[in-house]
Parts: sequence; structure tokens; C-alpha cells
Amino acid sequence: MSRRLIYAANWKMHHGPVAARAFAERFSATVEPREGRELWFFPPAVSISATADALAARPDATVGAQNVYWEQKGAFTGESSVPLVAEAGARGALVGHSERRHVFGETDADTARKVAALLDGGLVPMLCVGETLAEREGGDTERVVLRQLRAALEGRSADELGRTLIAYEPVWAIGTGRNATPADAAAVHRSIRAELARLGTAGRASVLYGGSVNARNILALLAEDELDGVLVGGASLDPDGWAELVGLGG
Ligand code: PGA
Repeated sequence: MSRRLIYAANWKMHHGPVAARAFAERFSATVEPREGRELWFFPPAVSISATADALAARPDATVGAQNVYWEQKGAFTGESSVPLVAEAGARGALVGHSERRHVFGETDADTARKVAALLDGGLVPMLCVGETLAEREGGDTERVVLRQLRAALEGRSADELGRTLIAYEPVWAIGTGRNATPADAAAVHRSIRAELARLGTAGRASVLYGGSVNARNILALLAEDELDGVLVGGASLDPDGWAELVGLGG
């Protein structure tokens, strides 16, 4: 039996409501749901509703937010809370994406608050962790990734950890065309899994890989059993390209 794989599309700051709906309709017209394959779509906040709406009939597709704020409501101009994105149709959210950490200065403490808000609100956090090039070259990959993991997840129950998805995305591989080798990615995934077990995860955690994943390299990456799926930016932006990509592996 083939294993369960997650294919997650991170559209970043692309696809407004009209384009998002058109994407979802085009994609659905070409791709049938497949046993063991789970699809996630992370549109910009303004397009969550349109995407969720257009994918509502697909049991294999889930829509998430790219970011949330941890407070429930109030005077936080420009932010979206967990209840607000949930009402729009999101069932989860990315937390700690490298662009949030390195462009917007999100801290480990911020990621912990966001993970907590999502779990408390019944949504799935997809926690992103990853080292910079300098950290990798300094031999610090494991220390950084495990620190990010612990900071966000320490003290959560086994049930909460079981509802959390992890995406390992080396910062230097995002949007650069550079990849970790499948073996390097798998080694980090093994460390992540060991740390999750220490934190109290029961059973197998889902750990995705991200960073310049595309139709040419996905098969080699997914050949590693440690990878439970992929989080894809650039190569998820075109519905036909995304349809091709989710057909590979599994
Ligand atoms: P990329 O982005 O596939 O364009 O490298 C991945 C991500 O940032 O999630």
C-alpha cells in the first residue's frame, strides 16, 4: 500500500479571489481525488473564502491561512484571528514560515502563541522550521530547527501534537532553485521526528519538506520515506503545473 502524502500549495502574495477561484475550478476539472493523497491550499487571506468555496466538493482538499494573529479579536489593524479565518473557510494555517520569520521579524515566541491559538480554536497548525545558509554552513542546522520546534510546541498535549503538521524548509532553498539533497532533508526529518517523540507525539508525525520543490525533483525527494509530503511555493502557482506535481509520487 502506498503511504499517505500531503501536497501543500503556498501561494504567498499571489492569486486574488477571482484568480483563486479560477485556479480551483481548473484544477478540479483536471485532477480527481486519489486515495492516500491530501491537498492543502494556502491562498492570501483575501482569497480564503473563494478558494474554500470552489473546493468545497473535494474531500481531499483543505484550505488554510498563510498567517494568523493569536488574539481572538480587537484593535489589531491588519491582522486576522483564528475565528476570522475559520469563518472564511480555513481549517488550518502556516505558522513561522521563513518569510514571516525573516521578512516580518516573527519570533519563536510569536510562533508559540500562534500555534496555541490555532490548536485552541480547533484548527491545524502547519509549523514551518528551517535554518539559514549561514546556520547550515556553521553546522547549526539541527540546533536551530529543534529550537524552533521546541519553542512552538513545548508543553502541548499528545493529542495537540498529533493535530500539528511540520514543514521543514531550509531558508536557503526557498525560492532559490536550490534544494537540500533528499538524504540531507531526510536526516533533518529524522531529527525532527525524534524531537517530536521527546515532546510527546504519539505515533508518526507528518513532516513535509519545502524549498524549490518542482516536477523535476519531487520524485527523488519523496523517494525518502522520511518525507510525508511537500510544501510548494513557486511551482504551485499554475493550476496545470500543480496538477502535474500532485500526480507525482505516492
Ligand atoms: P518555493 O517556496 O517552493 O517557491 O521555494 C516554498 C515555500 O516558501 O513554502
